[in-house]
Amino acid sequence: MLLTQYLFQADKPLKTTIRNYTEADFNELIDIQKECFPPPFPSDLWWSEDQLGSHIRHFPQGAICAEINGEIAGSITTLIITYKGQDHTWEEITDNGSIVTHDPHGNALYVVDISVRPKYRKTGLGKLLMQSLYHLVVELKLESVLGGSRMPGYERVKDKLTPEHYVESILNGERKDPVVTFLMKAGRTPVKLLPDYLDDPESANYGLLMEWKNPFFEKTK
Ligand SMILES: CC(C)(COP(=O)(O)OP(=O)(O)OC[C@H]1O[C@@H](n2cnc3c(N)ncnc32)[C@H](O)[C@@H]1OP(=O)(O)O)[C@@H](O)C(=O)NCCC(=O)NCCS
Repeated sequence: MLLTQYLFQADKPLKTTIRNYTEADFNELIDIQKECFPPPFPSDLWWSEDQLGSHIRHFPQGAICAEINGEIAGSITTLIITYKGQDHTWEEITDNGSIVTHDPHGNALYVVDISVRPKYRKTGLGKLLMQSLYHLVVELKLESVLGGSRMPGYERVKDKLTPEHYVESILNGERKDPVVTFLMKAGRTPVKLLPDYLDDPESANYGLLMEWKNPFFEKTK
């Protein structure tokens, strides 16, 4: 994948390149994880060099980063899975982020992680990274993009709202969540809640499975 276009930050054009990441990018990708997932997010869930090496060995096409002004500004990492409606955790579906579970014959592109460096947020970069997956599912003739969204606004209200009501209040516009709302704006729609999805205190360990259906997908069987 190679795509170059402009994003805007306070009217300043930012020339942005979307490309696959390689070993030369690992140190910067790990730095971005530290900036994106501060405590209380568990630091043992940040990428390690071993995991990043495994991504580019198993599915190099699905390991994507954005470069702005010669630095890595964000990344999105995926694998292919066979999805038949099964409940799952992040750990089991991604083999704890190593993507050894990647199945080239599967039907869905699954998002392991999306991270945008704080200084490049709200420029449309997250959306652009997500759109790069829509290109990929169309090219690979897969059925959908899927992934469990964090819902980091939930912990603060969990004593008054069930997770179902929390999601409902986002969908009907009563409140916003930093990740669920972002994903909705980037084209994803909710499928179902996944309890104990990830060790993620801010989300009370919930994930919200969200999808984007490939409009060009044709069932062959
Ligand atoms: C979530 C994240 C990737 C968003 O990246 P981003 O580059 O800032 O997002 P964009 O600029 O593309 O935003 C797209 C839309 O979502 C909205 N949005 C982004 N962050 C938002 C937030 N915190 N709250 C509400 N809306 C938000 C933007 O305003 C924009 O709306 P618009 O289309 O109406 O202009 C980024 O905040 C991040 O890296 N977070 C930490 C890591 C993380 O939790 N990743 C999710 C793992 S499941």
